[in-house]
Amino acid sequence: MIFRQLFDSVSGTYSYLLASRRGGEALIIDPVLDKVDHYLRVIRELDLKLVKAVDTHLHADHITGLGALRDKTRCITVMGEQSQADVVSMRLSDGERLQIEGLALEAIYTPGHTDDSYSFVMPDRVFTGDTLLIRGTGRTDFQNGDARQQYESIFGRLMKLPDTTFVYPAHDYKGDTVSTIGEERAFNPRLQVASVDEYIALMNSLNLPNPKMMDVAVPANRHVGLHQDEIARHGWAISACDAIAMAGRSDFTWVDLREPSERMRAGIIPGSLHVPYPALRENLGAGGILSELAKSTGKPVLFYCAFGERSAMAVEAAREAGLDTARHIQGGVDAWKKVGGPLTQ
Ligand SMILES: [Fe+2]
Repeated sequence: MIFRQLFDSVSGTYSYLLASRRGGEALIIDPVLDKVDHYLRVIRELDLKLVKAVDTHLHADHITGLGALRDKTRCITVMGEQSQADVVSMRLSDGERLQIEGLALEAIYTPGHTDDSYSFVMPDRVFTGDTLLIRGTGRTDFQNGDARQQYESIFGRLMKLPDTTFVYPAHDYKGDTVSTIGEERAFNPRLQVASVDEYIALMNSLNLPNPKMMDVAVPANRHVGLHQDEIARHGWAISACDAIAMAGRSDFTWVDLREPSERMRAGIIPGSLHVPYPALRENLGAGGILSELAKSTGKPVLFYCAFGERSAMAVEAAREAGLDTARHIQGGVDAWKKVGGPLTQ
């Protein structure tokens, strides 16, 4: 496995780049906007292809790199389903897998620092965001933080992992880089409490000043979505309402870009083809399913995904590959469902 721990010294943020080799698919956890050029250089130097950028929660102390990475690499942005970010490409819920080629991380919902905090578990390590820090825990006094929930997340979820599990947090301010579950259980001063009430009292007595960047970072991080209106202005988008009227007709080849788990959870628009977004490029190229279909049927492609981001990027990729009649459903299955579009399991 390729694993890089990257540091932003301004906000004390750790970001993590992960990949397994073969095609070089990579994902990054908790990227910082100011460091995006640095990440892209490392990704280029290691000959990787960024496919997912993930935030463990909506950060208050730095502006996320999710939007910039998506715009520069066409990667997928990922957060938990509770996130107040306006649009991300893909939302995960407790127990779902965050996957790239050769790697799978289990998303576990660990609220408390915020109500949208997730941790990501691999067999030998866990990325804990701000839920569990090294010899500390994330504050619980804003963004719907809740010390009781955090206690449950830490003792009920994270501390159930094997003692040898490496702990990789989203922040450190003292120079520590990694710990283990066993080490934190024994030496983390916040965890030396006899009851949940004692933990709540401890967290409520911290009286911390707000993060310096908070007033800038939180609004910016809520507006991370791709500008789908740009695509619509070009006439490359179809609203969910208009798409419903076209359902069952054969003027388009409908293509679902989501992952199998999303299709299972939300359902499928009847009569559509499945081409997962990571496989898009090869399918648009010479000999690929989409380019061959377009040639043989003469029909334009209508892409859709969960929220309209992957499909908007797919329209651009298709145009670059010469399929300039491609369109997408603005707002994705989310919008489709809201206007009563039919879905099958
Ligand atoms: Fe945080």
